[in-house]
Amino acid sequence: MKITNLGSRDYASFYVACELFKQMSQQSHSKLGLATGGTMVDVYAFLVDLLKKNQLDVSGIETFNLDEYVGLSASHEQSYHRYMNDILFERYPYFTQSLIHVPNGDADDLAAETKRYEDLINQQGPVDIQILGIGENGHIGFNEPGTDMNSTTQVVNLTESTINANSRYFDNEDEVPKQAVSMGLASILKAKRIILLAFGEKKRAAIEQLAKNEVDKQVPATILHAHPDVEIYVDDEAAPRF
Ligand code: GLP
Repeated sequence: MKITNLGSRDYASFYVACELFKQMSQQSHSKLGLATGGTMVDVYAFLVDLLKKNQLDVSGIETFNLDEYVGLSASHEQSYHRYMNDILFERYPYFTQSLIHVPNGDADDLAAETKRYEDLINQQGPVDIQILGIGENGHIGFNEPGTDMNSTTQVVNLTESTINANSRYFDNEDEVPKQAVSMGLASILKAKRIILLAFGEKKRAAIEQLAKNEVDKQVPATILHAHPDVEIYVDDEAAPRF
């Protein structure tokens, strides 16, 4: 695992957008593991620019999103499905709908939904590049501290820290869903290549934990040490200070 400070959010976002674009242009049937959150906003903006400028054929690209809030429909303003539509799939509307996968947090039978999603990853995967953000408490996807290293797609209870951090996207904290459907840590590790991004001072503590080179169940992202191909890009503020 290599942690690289690319200086700014802009530089790092553009770099990662280029990596995704390169993957897609070199292999027209690439499989991408996609993430949401504030961290990814500029990555997708740069990616859409690159796709448009080059009119890339994305009809064979298959995407798998990491997670979704329980109880929010795909069209809900704060759902991750809506985020993806708003930020990528509707801005470059040439993806094949049936190849876009986001867990359904609004499914009647969530246990069946988690199984369906994990089966999909196993049957259609592995993904070529998985991009990841990181929670202030070191979560990846919605895998909170203490998550089993062998976890697959499951329903998770969000911690106070995550509910509080994510409340900035909702009108108030009460509206933040308390559960999510998330790919598990083992599901994430199935990707061939993983790129994690972290920006801002609030993420520095989590990145410093990663820099220690030890797997710690209380910092879920440290499981990435068990993967052979992980790159981490940060800005000045999130770069380790020791
Ligand atoms: C959220 C998401 C993660 C995301 C992280 C950071 O809870 N489930 O996939 O990486 O927290 O979010 P942000 O980029 O908004 O700081």
